Amino acid sequence: MFKKDLLKNKRILITGGGTGLGKEMASHYAEHGADLYICGRRLNVLEETAFELKEKYGVSVKYETLDIRASKDVDDYIERIFQEGPLDGLVNNAAGNFISPTKDLSHKGFDAIANIVFHGTFYITHSVGKRWIDLKHKGSIISILATWVWTGSPYVVPSAMSKSGLNAMTQSLAAEWGKYNIKVNAIAPGPFPTKGAWERLNLGGNDESSMASIPLGRTGEMIELQNLATFLMADGCDYLTGQTIGIDGAQYLTGGGTFSNLDKLSDEDWDQIRAMIRSSNNKDKANRS
Ligand code: HXC
Repeated sequence: MFKKDLLKNKRILITGGGTGLGKEMASHYAEHGADLYICGRRLNVLEETAFELKEKYGVSVKYETLDIRASKDVDDYIERIFQEGPLDGLVNNAAGNFISPTKDLSHKGFDAIANIVFHGTFYITHSVGKRWIDLKHKGSIISILATWVWTGSPYVVPSAMSKSGLNAMTQSLAAEWGKYNIKVNAIAPGPFPTKGAWERLNLGGNDESSMASIPLGRTGEMIELQNLATFLMADGCDYLTGQTIGIDGAQYLTGGGTFSNLDKLSDEDWDQIRAMIRSSNNKDKANRS
């Protein structure tokens, strides 16, 4: 769909770029010539992804562990990157989420999600944006949101609230930073299967009943998301800013949100799901330590 050197000489940071959607976008950017920075909490997956993309596409891929909840660490990290030269693009992809009835959430559970998604994404965006403004450097920001920024969503209320805040950030900063040549957009993907989200969010397979709410009758194909992320990052359509673009096969417009079918689960089902999510998180934690 694009010329192979479309993103040549662009330096792009992708948070959570070691796995999942972040890795997929990073890979497409590398394929189109961009030099990359990826960060996340797990060193091993960052290392593997950086090695793989460097080998395959011959671009520079630098990686560092970073928890975006730690605002000082975020600003220090961005400062180190800018010491090497200004970024041209930022993809706010790092997130955290789990399904749970809202009545069962503890305040710490709410904070675990809000601190990553709402606070962490602001810290990164602010650290990068203020440097672009100081340097008078053109920039492009893309945040990965979800269609529930328009609909709300049961069972993922901390994520829905936090991502809705980022939708407001996208609109607000597009207006405030347009004069600095910074464009600010977002992508709201519907179901694109990745291991992390599928294990935690119990989204089910690509079978007929779970796909019934999607007019296109299927989950998203990664290349579709990659193409959109590349189009938004490239030059050529800079007048497009402040927009959150849904890519979900029109699922949210049908009124059956991703998690509406969870209404039929019993308390026992939820106990099992909680155990499953915890075991997946514990595996991740073991990998991090
Ligand atoms: C209820 C839970 C819970 C669960 C954690 N908590 N999991 N409560 N149900 N399943 C509560 C804990 O009990 C604790 O509160 C508090 O949350 C903090 O838990 P920790 O495990 O100590 O937190 P932490 O190590 O910071 O882990 C953060 C996390 C974890 C978000 C909970 O899942 C994580 O790191 N995830 C990152 C990756 C991720 O989530 N990826 C999926 C994103 S998918 P108490 O009070 O008990 O101490 C996505 C896109 C969706 O966002 C798109 C779909 C279409």
